[in-house]
Amino acid sequence: MRRRLLSSTLVVAAIAVLLLGVPLGLVVTRLIDDEAVQQLRAQATLLLSQVEYARIEDRPIDPEELQRQYPNRYVQIFIRNSPTVIVGTEPPPDRQMTEETHSESGVYVRISRDRAQVERNIRGWLMLIVALAGLALAVAVSLAVVQSRRLTLPLLDLARIAERLGSGEARPSRHRYGIPELDGVAEVLDRSATRLAELLSREREFATDASHQLRTPLTGLTMRLEEIVAAADQPAIVREEGEAAIIQAERLTAVIDELLAAARRQRHAQAEAICLDEVLRQQITEWEPAFRRSRRTLHLDGARGLRALVSKGGLSQVVSTLLENSLEHGDGPVTITTGNCDRSVVIEVADEGQGIPEHLRARVFDRNVSGAGGTGLGLTLARALTASDGGRLELIRPRPAVFALFLRPADETARHRVVSGPA
Ligand SMILES: Nc1ncnc2c1ncn2[C@@H]1O[C@H](COP(=O)(O)OP(=O)(O)OP(=O)(O)O)[C@@H](O)[C@H]1O
Ligand SMILES: [Mg+2]
Repeated sequence: MRRRLLSSTLVVAAIAVLLLGVPLGLVVTRLIDDEAVQQLRAQATLLLSQVEYARIEDRPIDPEELQRQYPNRYVQIFIRNSPTVIVGTEPPPDRQMTEETHSESGVYVRISRDRAQVERNIRGWLMLIVALAGLALAVAVSLAVVQSRRLTLPLLDLARIAERLGSGEARPSRHRYGIPELDGVAEVLDRSATRLAELLSREREFATDASHQLRTPLTGLTMRLEEIVAAADQPAIVREEGEAAIIQAERLTAVIDELLAAARRQRHAQAEAICLDEVLRQQITEWEPAFRRSRRTLHLDGARGLRALVSKGGLSQVVSTLLENSLEHGDGPVTITTGNCDRSVVIEVADEGQGIPEHLRARVFDRNVSGAGGTGLGLTLARALTASDGGRLELIRPRPAVFALFLRPADETARHRVVSGPA
């Protein structure tokens, strides 16, 4: 990622520098060239007026004075009926810049300079522009390095936190980086860590309680069995102790049932109060492009703002399975309808296709049952996921297919202690 950020910044900066630098270079070249021509023209005019003035004053033209006044210039003065005055060295003909002017009194001046001087000047300016462009690129690259470090270090930190979480070290990091999106991820990780820590401590509590609850009836049972062995030749005592042992064994069974029920309740307790709109909208956003490609539509209908006790990931997976089936096996528009029914929050997913084939209706939730050569696992897993959150997944109309998810409403918040009941 760091390299990508660097190269993209470099490309953008290079394009910007080229877009600015090249026109700037052309303009500077043109300006210097124009200025040199203007200067030469002004010198020619000045020279002409100097010559005219000298003639009026009847003063001879002093070549040395001209040489001082016009250094690096090749000056030619032609005066009618007078000898030609030439000052300076003539530049090579292919590099000559020349301006000339004349007066009506018969004076003609010509002033030339070597273009190489102008070109040197232009090269100097171009070098300056190139140096500034290089500087701009260097600044852009250093900023990109700083920025990429600012982005990648938090990402590496988040990856470390996620890895720690995965290896069971469920402790919120509370790291924040000053970048809202990354802080959002860190917050979600912290929340997951807190939930994981809660779950782990509940599991531990459950294991401790379970072993305690099982030990008491097991001790009672062992005592009765010892009595039976000790009184093996006294049938009355054996019968009496045997009956007591049976009662102990039944109590043990009851405790085990209780433990299993508590484990189920605990699993339900992993569900949290979720706003259905959020999950369903997210699913619609995910699936809409696929439906659009099949020239089909996806609608959300019914009551808004419903809240249910489910695990967010589980619910998303179940709705996703139903939408996938409607897309693959159903037809026409698909409607997701939310509402309340008895003591449940209900989500219905309906399409307008041919429905579930007759011979599959009774077994549609069974493992490996597919009417379309699929794995036949989708509905099986969806039903198991819903059940693990304390809900139900049913086929409420086979043709066209309507599946309904019955979920626990969010106000059903009564939490149970892990193990309760007789010892
Ligand atoms: N909306 C629907 N319309 C018509 N038939 C459906 C619909 N939903 C499910 N079915 C039928 O139920 C069968 C079982 O669905 P399930 O999702 O369990 O398996 P699958 O879609 O075949 O395979 P996969 O496990 O890959 O999803 C499907 O093969 C299909 O015949
Ligand atoms: Mg399927």
